[in-house]
Amino acid sequence: MKNIVFFSTFDPINNKIIDAIQDNNSSDTNYIFYMLFSRFSDSKTREEMIKVALKDLGIKYTIRYDFINQVDTIIELKKLLESISNGCISTYSVLILDEKSNLVDAEKICKINGKLNTKENFLDPSFDIRNLKNLDTKKTVIDYIVTHHLYFMSIVENNIKGKRLAHCVSVANTAYDIAISNKLANPDLFYIAGLLHDIGKQYDKKEALMIMEKYYRSYCCMPLWAYHQYTGAFLAKKYFPCINEECINAILTHSSGDSDLTSMQKIIYAADKIEPTRGYDSGDMIEACKKDYNKGFVYVFKTNIDFIENESGGCTSNLLTNKCKKCYLEQ
Ligand SMILES: [Fe+2]
Ligand SMILES: [Fe+2]
Repeated sequence: MKNIVFFSTFDPINNKIIDAIQDNNSSDTNYIFYMLFSRFSDSKTREEMIKVALKDLGIKYTIRYDFINQVDTIIELKKLLESISNGCISTYSVLILDEKSNLVDAEKICKINGKLNTKENFLDPSFDIRNLKNLDTKKTVIDYIVTHHLYFMSIVENNIKGKRLAHCVSVANTAYDIAISNKLANPDLFYIAGLLHDIGKQYDKKEALMIMEKYYRSYCCMPLWAYHQYTGAFLAKKYFPCINEECINAILTHSSGDSDLTSMQKIIYAADKIEPTRGYDSGDMIEACKKDYNKGFVYVFKTNIDFIENESGGCTSNLLTNKCKKCYLEQ
């Protein structure tokens, strides 16, 4: 039996941790996940997320937690290893996750004199997830975070409420699925852009105009319905300073379109129109986007323009939508 101890806050468990656990796993491995104190969610919640993340991966593990802050010194680490191993320390290894994962014999660690030579925060590796820089974890963990109102969700839910929140989560899921089926990198960033895309809808006309005049003066000529894409980008950056610039760009064009759109801009535009809670049968458009997001986007864009101009009697003529029509419909 191989016993591997892994110290972390697991707040929350992320892909780097999951990969290291899998890479060092074998049929006779028994993991001990030693959960350190963290202020961002309680230990029960973090345990649930570990269970959700490792479900069906064939990992044998037990979870232990004490209310200790960090394991900063070798002396603290030795004490913990001795208490975990009940004197059989030679059968224990410690999984160290820094730039890459390393298995170190527990006995060796106990013989070292000196300080732990590890990067700051290596025991708390999920800052980026909590602050929405990325959501680099299993989709089941992302769903858990969102449905249990953890981390960034308090800010999201203060700014997006009720049906609009359900729509945003649905756009996030649709965009994520489309990114996955098209084998695009970083599907978690598509989720973030979808989740936040309508965060700017909370402003009334007067407040929106003030932000437009101050930060997006050259787009004041856009119709009022498009203002929320600018106020949304403004708020997303304000509340989540680490947010990826690609997500901001996708929020900035999600209602108007534009020429030369990135994959994320196309997918967020499309997901916003076709997510399943919209209340019409959008199944074929979702399938088209999953098959090929470039073709799917053109299909959704054309359908949307036709609907607005022919059925609802609205006008789609504005600076950016005109550029989008020229780029994608008039080739
Ligand atoms: Fe919108
Ligand atoms: Fe929307």
